Amino acid sequence: MAMNKIAVLTTGGDAPGMNPAIRSVVRYGISQKLEVMGVFRGWWGLINEELKALNHRSVSGIINQGGTILKTARCAEFKTEEGQDRAHNTIKKYGIDGLVVIGGNGSFTAAHEFYRKYKVPVVGIAASIDNDVNGIDYTIGTDTAINTALDAIDKIRDTATSMERIFVVEVMGRDSGFIALTVALAGGCEDVIIPEKKLDLEAICHGIVHGNLVGKMSWIIVVAEGAGKAVDIARQITEITSLETRVVVLGHVQRGGSPTAVSRDLALTLGKYAVDCLLEGKTDIAVGASCGKMVEVAFEIAIQKKELKIENLFNLVKVLT
Ligand code: F6P
Repeated sequence: MAMNKIAVLTTGGDAPGMNPAIRSVVRYGISQKLEVMGVFRGWWGLINEELKALNHRSVSGIINQGGTILKTARCAEFKTEEGQDRAHNTIKKYGIDGLVVIGGNGSFTAAHEFYRKYKVPVVGIAASIDNDVNGIDYTIGTDTAINTALDAIDKIRDTATSMERIFVVEVMGRDSGFIALTVALAGGCEDVIIPEKKLDLEAICHGIVHGNLVGKMSWIIVVAEGAGKAVDIARQITEITSLETRVVVLGHVQRGGSPTAVSRDLALTLGKYAVDCLLEGKTDIAVGASCGKMVEVAFEIAIQKKELKIENLFNLVKVLT
């Protein structure tokens, strides 16, 4: 099928680097003689006909901005037959030949289902701070989120050390401990709690009490949100050790901010790559980076649970405490 007009959308949780990805899709697409439309608020925009043609200037000055100029949403309506039909009608009405979907595994699940039903060519660009797209090493936004969390942890360490306190810091990661593990290691944290590992609070408390006896008085324990609430863990630590704790929940701070060079370069490279894939007739795939190369992963693989290779990192956090 000839590819003359494509549409780009961002869906699910925003990730820093989505804007450079949009910029790349638009400018590279135009360089390849494509018309490029931007869809607003993800699938919702296709359902409700919220889209407009983008030109070179539409994406000026966004390379360093977090968030997404196209807005994003989690759209329950797109899971219904009626919602999908309406989205398909918009695609037909505007003569759109292919879609670029920038998002994470939830977005790709929806894109896969949509392709299966309507056969509109679609290529996904892996963007999510959680880094939970299977078959892809690093998603757009992860590096920025990790550096944001690390900056906060470095600051927390100043006060933790000065007041000799125990901090429990909750970072994002609904089903994945990737952010938690990476920042715990890079931040020199004393312990890390992630969904992939059974929590052994007794062992953590034993470490704290033993540490106190030998003069180690401050601790930072990082917990991934998918592994439990920092406030509950802190309360239990106090109950077991009788020591005071403090809690910091970093939350959506990790989703914002100017994308790092790593997130930008990945986004800019993948934007072009996604357009090339559509032009070459490829579809039903996500593109991302793996082992330093750009790779294509079938949606049905990309949406499977990603196994985190954690053993080495997890043990290293403990050994280096
Ligand atoms: O995008 C991923 C993520 O940030 C998860 O880490 C987190 O659990 C979730 O999104 C939060 O979603 P929302 O912004 O809809 O509250």
